[in-house]
Parts: sequence; structure tokens; C-alpha cells
Amino acid sequence: MFKVRNLKFKYPNSKDYTIDGIDFEIQDGEIFGFLGPSAAGKSTTQKILIKLLKDFEGEIEYYGKPLLSYRDEFYQDIGVSFEMPISFSKLTAMENLEFFKKLYKQTVDVEPLLKRMGLWDDRDKKAGEFSKGMKIRLNFIRAMLNKPKMLFLDEPTNGLDPGNARIMKDMILEFKKQGGTVFITSHIMSDIDELCDRVAFIADGKLREVDTPRNLKIKYGKRTVKVEYKEEGNLIVREFSMDEIKTPAFFELLRDKDIETLHSGETTLEEIFIKVTGVTLRG
Ligand SMILES: Nc1ncnc2c1ncn2[C@@H]1O[C@H](COP(=O)(O)OP(=O)(O)OP(=O)(O)O)[C@@H](O)[C@H]1O
Ligand SMILES: [Mg+2]
Repeated sequence: MFKVRNLKFKYPNSKDYTIDGIDFEIQDGEIFGFLGPSAAGKSTTQKILIKLLKDFEGEIEYYGKPLLSYRDEFYQDIGVSFEMPISFSKLTAMENLEFFKKLYKQTVDVEPLLKRMGLWDDRDKKAGEFSKGMKIRLNFIRAMLNKPKMLFLDEPTNGLDPGNARIMKDMILEFKKQGGTVFITSHIMSDIDELCDRVAFIADGKLREVDTPRNLKIKYGKRTVKVEYKEEGNLIVREFSMDEIKTPAFFELLRDKDIETLHSGETTLEEIFIKVTGVTLRG
């Protein structure tokens, strides 16, 4: 769907490239996570992909044609939720949605969306009087207004309570099930792990990894099994490599000891994030 080759981007007042030559593809129907430390260029990349920042170097193809060769029809295809929710504060939630609907050829009935996101009863309240989480939810509904083929979601669940985050994640997964494609950034690694088919890590303007969460966990995981058991009242912790677990010694241990816990040394996306992006931990 998207093919990005040697993408570079520099803000006019900046001397360094924020994006310094990155390549990736977004396949039709996948949820593609774009991760990286704060200020790494995630929102910048999203803005480039939605044609808000056009002064980039390199190539971006959307369905086999240069992105910049598309005109307004591109905006009929996509739904965007920005990092900072945008709405007209003097208009009610409903008026906001009615306004944005006018920009599109094809639109959906907003009632089920407002109900699902828990905003139906507040539809006649001014958006400026909404709480942060309400604005975020309204922002997400706005992104879905035009029945998009593709969603661009910049930290969509950031600032939502767990219940509303759950509803939004379910809606994102349903969107994908119906054939939709998603580009998503988030700092919530459990959300990314749950939602994404593939993830890319950006740091210092370069992509450090692009792969499925599963492959990354295998690559960065310790590939060990940790066993905790009791021996004469003492807790013993032993770690076995994947080769060692095939040996009789391991089987005998399982048979003879009072095993308390057994864990594979699989790593988490959070640990991978820290390793891959080179974030140093202080404190
Ligand atoms: N309009 C702008 N003009 C100049 N520099 C900008 C502008 N917007 C962003 N930048 C700079 O570009 C870099 C990347 O910013 P960006 O917003 O893409 O980061 P991010 O990865 O989305 O970070 P976060 O996780 O904090 O949202 C930062 O150094 C930022 O200061
Ligand atoms: Mg950002």
C-alpha cells in the first residue's frame, strides 16, 4: 500500500535531518506500529505520509504511484487522528462531526460510533467543554467518519482510561478485520504488542528494526527457561538454555523437585524498545 524509500526530512529551521534515510513498506490490511523515543520523528513521519509535510527527499509510493501525485482523492481514503485532538471548541461534538462529514464523499452514520465511544449523551455539549479523554474519543470518531481504507493514529489511546482504551483497541482490530490498514504510533508497548502485525523502531533518524513483535521477541529473547523449586526448604532458581531442556537432567528436575514456577526467557517489547533504540535508563 505504502512503499517508502530512502526517506529524508529536515524541518526548515533545523540543521539536522529528523528523518535520515528510512525504508519501509506498509502492506494492505496490516497494522503497522511506528515506535521510537520522544522526538525521534514518529509524528513527523505520519505527517509526511498524510501529505502534510511535502518537502521530503526520497520516494513514497501509495498504491504504486508517487504519493504527491495524488490530489484530494487521497484524503477520501484515509482517516487521521493527530497527537493533539483537534476540534472546533465552540461547536458541539455533533456539529463538529457534521462539519467534517461535509468534506467527504462517503460518510458513516455517527450515532453508533458516538454510542460505542460513550459520547452519545454528550453529543450536544461544546467540544471545548469536553474532558481530555472525551476530546481524544471524539478525535478518533472523526478519523472514522469517511469509512477510510487506512487509519493514521498518533498515540490514539494516550490519555484514555483502560475501559475506553479497550473499546478503541477493539474498534481498531475490527477495522483491520474488515480489510482496513493502520499506521499507529504509541508509547504503550502492551497496546502495540496486542494490535500490531509488524513494528518499526526509529532512533536518531534511522530505522533500527522492522519485524513482527513475535520475531523480535525471539531475536532479542534470552531463549532460556527459568525454573524455581524448593530443596530442603530453600528456594533454588536455575536457568536452562533451550538445548539443555532436551537433556535428562532437566526432565529429572521436573520429575523430582517441587517446582514452583517455570518461565521461558521471552523478552517484552518494552525491553526490545530500550535495547533497539539505545535509550539509557537513569536512576
Ligand atoms: N514544526 C516543527 N518545526 C521544527 N521542528 C519540529 C517541528 N515539529 C517537530 N519538530 C522536531 O522534530 C523532531 C521530531 O518530532 P516528532 O514530533 O516527529 O517526534 P515524535 O517521535 O512524534 O515524539 P513524541 O513521542 O514525543 O510524540 C523533534 O526534535 C521536534 O522538535
Ligand atoms: Mg509524536
